Amino acid sequence: MKTAFCMKMFDLATVVLFICLDHTYGSAGNEWAYDGEKGPDHWHLDFPHCGGVRQSPVSIKTDEVIVDSEWLVPFTLKGYDKIQNLTMQLGNNGHTVQVDLMIRGEPVSITGGGLKNVYAAQQFHFHWGKEDQRGSEHDIDGIYFPMEMHIVHYNMKYNNFTEALNKEDGLAVLGFFFEVGRYNHRFDRIIKHFSEISYRDLRTQIETFALRDLLPENLDGYYRYYGSLTTPPCYESVIWSIFYQTIQISEDQLDQFRHKVHENYANETNRDISDDYRPPQCLNRRKIHSSKPVVSIGNVGKNNQTGRTSGSATQISVTLITSLIFLMKLLFIFFW
Ligand SMILES: *[C@@H]1O[C@H](CO)[C@@H](O)[C@H](O)[C@H]1NC(C)=O
Ligand SMILES: *[C@@H]1O[C@H](CO)[C@@H](O)[C@H](O)[C@H]1NC(C)=O
Ligand SMILES: *[C@@H]1O[C@H](CO)[C@@H](O)[C@H](O)[C@H]1NC(C)=O
Ligand SMILES: *[C@@H]1O[C@H](CO)[C@@H](O)[C@H](O)[C@H]1NC(C)=O
Ligand SMILES: [Zn+2]
Repeated sequence: MKTAFCMKMFDLATVVLFICLDHTYGSAGNEWAYDGEKGPDHWHLDFPHCGGVRQSPVSIKTDEVIVDSEWLVPFTLKGYDKIQNLTMQLGNNGHTVQVDLMIRGEPVSITGGGLKNVYAAQQFHFHWGKEDQRGSEHDIDGIYFPMEMHIVHYNMKYNNFTEALNKEDGLAVLGFFFEVGRYNHRFDRIIKHFSEISYRDLRTQIETFALRDLLPENLDGYYRYYGSLTTPPCYESVIWSIFYQTIQISEDQLDQFRHKVHENYANETNRDISDDYRPPQCLNRRKIHSSKPVVSIGNVGKNNQTGRTSGSATQISVTLITSLIFLMKLLFIFFW
């Protein structure tokens, strides 16, 4: 059922592409958002890559995952526990809170994990929901988590992050799910600075800590697939690793994400950054692999998302309507 839906969307995508070429596309500049006229259903109009066939996030269906433990060996983390020569700058870009890593000398990097090259850490950021039942971008068998963290690395065979950004093997992103649980003091190093970045484009340097501190204990279990950036310009350049083990965070701490940082500039009316996740994209021909047989993910009560379906319904109707318009235009051209 779901697959059929995706195939249909794929066929219709070609039609929609025609419409875009037909219309003057990119009419509204390069702004984008998570809802409304600039929301995910419309990203492809200004950013054509967002309409591609290797997009992220995706829904992970555990009974379709292919286990390949010979390929997907554990990662080797280098410099994940260092603090010397590493500067961390926390910023609000209007879509998320992001920590940029600035490194002198030896980079913080990952190898192994089935990767062919060494990937250097560039930044990490978060996606979260207004409520506990949503917020993650990826989902496991339809189960969503209240927050997802992405650590973005670039392939060191390229000169820098910018150069790697749109290459097929340019980026490796590690994704971690959060679950509501105990207070996690490790994240307070970030959260306590939210008042300094409560508006868009504000930045502040924070005290450096070891990246490893943020991660779950066990990193052996993870899913692997080839996808894209989950925000415009949606380049199809990401090798995704989504980890089984989750990170605990308290409801109070999540609330700081939900209410302390705003998507607007200081001179405008406050709008919380929240629900800054892209809905799942079609897998198309892709397969999701994993490093180990899937065990039950996480350990606290699972969330399932009911609000998402309305998003897909909108997407279908938008696509249907644009296709209809296209057909009418065709008829018009033929019979005039
Ligand atoms: C820090 O950087 C200096 C010079 O770039 C280098 O000599 C030193 O080995 C670096 N230290 C660490 C721990 O990376
Ligand atoms: C990245 O590398 C390219 C090619 O070497 C160079 O033109 C560009 O200026 C570099 N960008 C940054 C931000 O260093
Ligand atoms: C608010 O400030 C930003 C730059 O900081 C500017 O681009 C924007 O136009 C301003 N908005 C209003 C409503 O003044
Ligand atoms: C999903 O959520 C709905 C409504 O909140 C609930 O009725 C249903 O039992 C939940 N399903 C699972 C598998 O938790
Ligand atoms: Zn992300």
